[in-house]
Amino acid sequence: MKRVIGIMSGKGGVGKTTISVNLALAMHRLGEDVMVVDADLRNPSLGLHLGVFDYDLTLHDVLEKDMPLIEALYIHPTGLKFVPSHVSLHYLNIEPSKMLKAFSDVYATTIIDSPPGLGDDALAVMQTCDEAIVVTTPHLPDVAGALRTIEVAKAMGVRIMGIILNSVKGKGYEVTAAELEAVSGVRVLQTIPWDSEIPKSISLKTPVIEHNQVASSSIAFYEMASKITGLNYDKPNLIGLRRFMKTLSKIV
Ligand SMILES: Nc1ncnc2c1ncn2[C@@H]1O[C@H](COP(=O)(O)OP(=O)(O)OP(=O)(O)O)[C@@H](O)[C@H]1O
Ligand SMILES: [Mg+2]
Repeated sequence: MKRVIGIMSGKGGVGKTTISVNLALAMHRLGEDVMVVDADLRNPSLGLHLGVFDYDLTLHDVLEKDMPLIEALYIHPTGLKFVPSHVSLHYLNIEPSKMLKAFSDVYATTIIDSPPGLGDDALAVMQTCDEAIVVTTPHLPDVAGALRTIEVAKAMGVRIMGIILNSVKGKGYEVTAAELEAVSGVRVLQTIPWDSEIPKSISLKTPVIEHNQVASSSIAFYEMASKITGLNYDKPNLIGLRRFMKTLSKIV
């Protein structure tokens, strides 16, 4: 039985899917046996990030037909193992309560991309996880949502591995990592800068760490993957020069 790690948030749009995909791929590249699962049953988007839209079987089928999770496992060209959800509105009323059983015999470290909030679908993910990572941006409404999620996770007995502070611009009006740790009592596992390479990579349907290895966000994803797995990550050397060469090649 391996670790099941939920990527959770109070508010939507804070970066859970982006983080799930890139964190899982970074873990895979460091040598971890890992898979990423789209458990946002009502608004799935993992497949969109990976450029794959049409599947025979998904997590919806696993839950609806009591199938083993492995039946809906795919391997992306990057080597990343993933379980998608159907984008079709036909699956809107799927019952999330069967999730615990579906994940009971996973054989690889599992990253679950959760829906936001504290609805039955998000609570089903929380119930399924051994550990949760809570994502927020440095903006007050998102932080308030994260604090609510942390309280519920604690009440449900889920170990909180840490907070990811995403889309940080370093502006004076942002909540800082130290402030977040002080109010939540939870450590900030990783800060990820706001990085235009992320929306660019999503439009290319490619994880940012595949699109640009030296992007500031890519380095943060690898650092986080190393902290979670204990596997070694050596930052690429000459990062500044490599970024310069990338810009130069675009211009030329
Ligand atoms: N570090 C970042 N820098 C720049 N843009 C980012 C960053 N992280 C996420 N984004 C952008 O934020 C948007 C929302 O990201 P994402 O879909 O991963 O959030 P989410 O929490 O999964 O949303 P939902 O709750 O709707 O599932 C995306 O368009 C993505 O491009
Ligand atoms: Mg999402």
